[in-house]
Order: sequence, then structure tokens, then C-alpha cells
Amino acid sequence: MTLEELEIERQKSLAEINGVSSAEDVEKMRVKYTGRNGLIPALIKAMKDVPKEERPAFGKAVQAWKAEVESVLSSKGSSSRVEKVNELIDATLPGQWNTPGVEHPLSRVIAESARIFSRLGFTVADGPDIENPFNNFTALNTPPHHPSQDRRDTFWLAADALLRTQTSPVQIRTMLENKPPVRVICPGRTYRRDTTDATHSANFHQIEGLYVDVKPVSLADLKSVLAYFAKEILGSEAGVRFRPHFFPFTEPSVEVDFACHVCKGKGCNVCKQSGWIEIAGAGMVDPRVFKHVGWNPDEVSGYAFGFGVERIAMIKYGIPDIRWLYENDIRFLNQLG
Ligand code: DAH
Repeated sequence: MTLEELEIERQKSLAEINGVSSAEDVEKMRVKYTGRNGLIPALIKAMKDVPKEERPAFGKAVQAWKAEVESVLSSKGSSSRVEKVNELIDATLPGQWNTPGVEHPLSRVIAESARIFSRLGFTVADGPDIENPFNNFTALNTPPHHPSQDRRDTFWLAADALLRTQTSPVQIRTMLENKPPVRVICPGRTYRRDTTDATHSANFHQIEGLYVDVKPVSLADLKSVLAYFAKEILGSEAGVRFRPHFFPFTEPSVEVDFACHVCKGKGCNVCKQSGWIEIAGAGMVDPRVFKHVGWNPDEVSGYAFGFGVERIAMIKYGIPDIRWLYENDIRFLNQLG
């Protein structure tokens, strides 16, 4: 082939390629001209038959042709792909996207509590929702005739299985499985037969706390830990107060009020004008509880506390109805997130 003939072939090829548009035809052109058995590679192979003095000019022309064909094919190729995509999707429709989730207020209170107590050396312990009566009642010094053992208050699953009515059985599990000192909090679900209304639910959450050591532990230690927690979780700078109370598993027992974080103790709607908000039950672990787990009450001492997660969440975020926490209404959850 002479240089003139080559030029004619080049023009013919470009005319032909420019005439096609579908992805399929573009591919055919690629095969025909630059494919492995295409025209241009064949010409390159046949270079040895071109007279020696014409070879450089001929080679240059073939390479230029090849580059030109490739560039036209590739621009055709991409525009034919765009056409194909446009057939499949309508780019003028509004997009779809997933709204990011927010952490549930109960999960947030639990995670935040764990962070706060972890700074004081507490770790998180866990126990099952289905408990045996020993862990839930007997070991916690709650005799069979005690009102909280009442069949009307507890979901019994069998003679020896119930849905735990409190997170306190995790105290028992922790002491049975460890040696003193122990310093744990135990967040989890609890169950009581209750009709549901704005402040009650048959299924709710508690966080239990337990610190037992071989050195003397006092009510003052308990108070300082809860005062720190009150300040961190609600911002109640004004601290905590203890009121005498009774729990079978602590002696002495107290109910714990946090100073109202909204009015700083002056009295407002949140604290029902009292300046204080009832938060937790607590006390010094009763010697009988130590005996039930095989620990010598003369050698160890400790405190325990328990509070409701829902209660903290409702006070912290100003939620008037406990049921909102379970309905998973995204409008509500997003407001808090
Ligand atoms: N378990 C108690 C309840 O459900 C709360 C409680 C009170 C837990 C005193 C404790 C405690 O650990 O010492 O009402």
C-alpha cells in the first residue's frame, strides 16, 4: 500500500466511524479497525513489505491514523454509554437517600451513665432477662411472703423462672462469679405487671450499681459517687440528698433525690415545686445478702443503688409521657437526636 492509498483508507474509515452511534456499532468499528485482527494492526504487521525508504513516513502515518481512530471511537463510546444510562434512569427525578439514624434516648442515657461510672472505676456487668427466684428474690433477702414476690406483680414463666423485676439480681451474679472488690453497674431491661400509662410501663430499664470491698465502705462514699453522677448526667450542681427508706437487700436503705437541675432547687414544674427529684433507691449491702453469695459480712462491706433509665431520660429531655420512648416515632426521636 502506498502513502496515497493509506490516506484514502484513513478518510474512508473516519467517515464510516463517524456514521455510527449505537454502542454495538461502535464496538464493531473497533473490531474492524483497531481490534487484534483489525485493519490497522494488519498494516503494521505488513510494514516489512513497504520499501525501506518509505517505511518511516508510512509507519508514522499508520500510527497517526491508529491514534485518530482510537480517539474518535472512545469519544463515541462514552457518549453512547451516556445514552444508554439515560434510557435506564431518569436523572431529573429527585434522588433517594437514607436519613442517618439517631441514638435512642434510652440508649444514650445508658451509654452516658456507663461513661460517667467508668471514670470512677466501675465496669459494666450483664445478666439475663429471665432469672431464677433465688437471684431475683431469695439472695436479695426478699422472703416468699414479701409483697414484691406477689404473683400479681411478677411475670412468672415457670415455678423456677421469671422475668426479672429489677436489675438487682445482677448484683448476686456478680458476687457469685467474682471475688471482692467488685465495682459494677448493670444496665438492663426489667419487667413488672403494670398497666401502661404516662408514667408506668410493664417493661422498663434500670441501672444497678454495686461496690463491695475488703476495706470499709461507707454511706458517705455512696453519697459522693451519686453526687458526681447527678452533676454529670443532669447537671444538678446542687447535689443529692438521702431520705430514709426500706429495701430488703440494703441496711440502712435510702431513697436518693437529685437537686432539681432546672430551678437549681428553688422549685419549678419539673420538681413539683420541691426543688428535689426522686431518682434512685440505694443503701449499704445487707449482711444477709453477703451470706447468700458466700461472702463473709465481717470481711466485706459495700453499697448498692438502682435507678430507672426512663426516669432519667424523661427528666433530662423533658419527655412528659413514658410511652413516647417505646413508639419509635421518628419525628420524636429526631427532635432529641
Ligand atoms: N431494685 C430496686 C427497685 O427496683 C432499686 C434499688 C434500691 C436497687 C436499692 C438497689 C438498692 O441496688 O440498693 O426498686
